Amino acid sequence: MKRLIVIIMVLLLVLSVTGFAQELVLYGSAEPRSIEVLAQGFEKATGIKVAWIRMSSGETLARLRAEKNNPQADVWWGGTTDPHSIAAVEGLTVPYKPKTWNDLDPRFRDPIGGARVIGVYVGILGLAVNEGVLKSMNLPIPTGWDDLLNPKYKGLIGMANPNTSGTALTMLCTQVFLRGEDKAFDYMKKLHKNIANYTKSGVAPSILAGRGEIAIAVAFLHDVIYEIQEGYPLKAIAPKEGTGYEIGGLNLVKGGPHPELGKKFMDWVTTPKAQESEATVGSYQLPTNIKAKVPSVSIPIDSVKTVNYNFKWVAENGPRLMDRWTREVFTLPR
Ligand code: F6P
Repeated sequence: MKRLIVIIMVLLLVLSVTGFAQELVLYGSAEPRSIEVLAQGFEKATGIKVAWIRMSSGETLARLRAEKNNPQADVWWGGTTDPHSIAAVEGLTVPYKPKTWNDLDPRFRDPIGGARVIGVYVGILGLAVNEGVLKSMNLPIPTGWDDLLNPKYKGLIGMANPNTSGTALTMLCTQVFLRGEDKAFDYMKKLHKNIANYTKSGVAPSILAGRGEIAIAVAFLHDVIYEIQEGYPLKAIAPKEGTGYEIGGLNLVKGGPHPELGKKFMDWVTTPKAQESEATVGSYQLPTNIKAKVPSVSIPIDSVKTVNYNFKWVAENGPRLMDRWTREVFTLPR
């Protein structure tokens, strides 16, 4: 009997060190390198292990919807606000104000109100242009959205699919805020004729442009800056008519397996230290913690003409816009 008790105690000890040790489950929708550096930083700061995967913003929204009755993740970091806010409206996430709240820039910390999405970074939408490809074809360098409709660019422009990619949904909504909804759809239908390929992820088109497979990509400018640093022959252009921007989202998953770990992560990931770690891996979004250093290569949002991007409106209308894009634009012949 004594022996049995000792064996049980040893087993319990082993399990408490291994099997019972809690692990934070993180869904991330920015670049894998920027999620990895955060997972490592959090593990170092707290001793809590992180299991993470990267999915595009709309892809993560679809995953959370599918897991609604059996949530697998604790927290969702990164990706554009819009799919985060749609998830919040659909009751897939719960509001949480991180302890850093007072240090987060009031312009960006709470894009739809009620702490339903916490803003973790800011990125400006624009174009990645491979001038070499355009010059070799004797084509002009575009300076704005309307230039992209030039029929000479047929098959030379890349963007992602707004159903999977937050970058592409930002682009679609940018056109809505620039022109009004019906005119935005007319624009997207015309642009469709010039699109080479709709990718799943938002950064993919600028990589294709960097390789010269296409000439122009719709992309976040911080991603273009990283690719230029990596040696791709690209130019980052902020469209002259005015452009949209993202606020990177952070959200606690409703009914996730470890809500306390999720909250801990949200407290830590919004600190200056965590936000500054992003630039060490070439992620040059603007941090939202006012105490965090802004990377020297980042483009200040005030230096760019932006549209009046209504995040609250997209939270309510985003799914309808995505459906409309699929029905009226995606299915058109090119
Ligand atoms: O740098 C990666 C990034 O551009 C983020 O700034 C953005 O939130 C995310 O990717 C969007 O990715 P996707 O378009 O694939 O959802």
